[in-house]
Amino acid sequence: TTVARRTTSHIYVANWFFGAYILTIAMLHVVNNLEVPISMWKSYSLYPGTIDAMVQWWYGHNAVGFFLTAGFLGMMYYFVPIQAGRPVYSYRLSIVHFWALIAVYMWAGPHHLHYSSLPDWVQSLGMVFSIVLLAPSWGGMINGVMTLSGAWHKLRTDPIIRFLIVSLSFYGMSTFEGPMMSIKTVNALSHNTDWTIGHVHSGALGWVAMITMGSMYVLIPRVFNRKGMFSTAWIYTHFWLSTIGTVLYIASMWVSGLMQGLMWRAVNTDGTLTYSFVQEMESRFPYYVVRLIGGVIFFSGMLLMAWNVYKTLKEEKNDSNESNLATA
Ligand code: HEM
Ligand code: HEM
Repeated sequence: TTVARRTTSHIYVANWFFGAYILTIAMLHVVNNLEVPISMWKSYSLYPGTIDAMVQWWYGHNAVGFFLTAGFLGMMYYFVPIQAGRPVYSYRLSIVHFWALIAVYMWAGPHHLHYSSLPDWVQSLGMVFSIVLLAPSWGGMINGVMTLSGAWHKLRTDPIIRFLIVSLSFYGMSTFEGPMMSIKTVNALSHNTDWTIGHVHSGALGWVAMITMGSMYVLIPRVFNRKGMFSTAWIYTHFWLSTIGTVLYIASMWVSGLMQGLMWRAVNTDGTLTYSFVQEMESRFPYYVVRLIGGVIFFSGMLLMAWNVYKTLKEEKNDSNESNLATA
């Protein structure tokens, strides 16, 4: 209804992404949950065995694509231009980005089911689409980062822009890593290891969380009609806490995951396993300590943000309406 009541003739690209996010998540839930009732209180999935697994990962990967990506790309297209004070780098690229991302994401799900009972050709199809997915992902990232072109100096002085741009770097990193991990021979090493967990959180912390924090720092003073956030220095500190926390998390999981994969596949000359499962698990302990430290650092940044928001709301209201988002 908000889109229908708009005052401009075209729909700005951020809303295309928000729309895709809302519609697709609804569609995923409906299709993935289709069931055949056998009694009043019990029902079974409509899909048999392997097909059920495929439908679930069609759901699962599109949840990554439309929940953890499209909605946040909408935020990127809205908040990066506002904070940079410049129009989006290329409107044309943003349209290509939108349609390409939507068209390709839908097919990538099978990379979660490599070496399973899913037909081989479906696995390969998923792999190929995942590699192609690098292009629209990076197209979007470049569009966001290049919006700053001509205003790069703002990175030095504005911690909010730092949040937004560094989150885009993490987005670029995780959407480079994902296509690599979807290559079957790479996945044979990475699957079920902490490498996947590292990949998840370079997206979840570096991209999803950090673009959200940046956007919230833009939004909060405007929504509550304050001059700005209470402390810019605290935003700086938060930026570093998030970045260091994320890096500690993902770097420890990369090392742990690679080690895990290599230890699992190590065999002696007589064909027996070199390491037992417990040996492998024990050797991961130090990396879990590093992840814990990273997580605590990241979380302390969130507490600082909460305190900053609290102090901002305690400040006096801005009388003029200049800080309203619509005029920005
Ligand atoms: C071009 C984009 C991407 C591709 C091709 C891709 C590919 C992959 C691959 C191959 C796996 C490992 C599957 C396995 O071995 O089990 C994976 C796991 C995962 N990825 Fe990505 N990824 C991409 C981007 C992202 C982003 C941006 C996020 C988050 C914001 C993300 C979140 C996840 C999650 C949550 C999992 C773990 C799923 C599970 O629980 O098993 N991915 N991805
Ligand atoms: C301080 C922040 C965070 C910490 C310390 C943390 C920690 C963890 C841990 C320990 C796991 C289990 C990994 C395993 O099964 O071995 C996990 C899984 C997961 N986390 Fe986080 N997390 C954080 C933030 C987030 C955020 C913000 C998101 C989403 C935006 C997220 C998404 C996920 C997902 C999707 C999984 C499942 C991955 C899989 O099973 O493949 N996490 N997280």
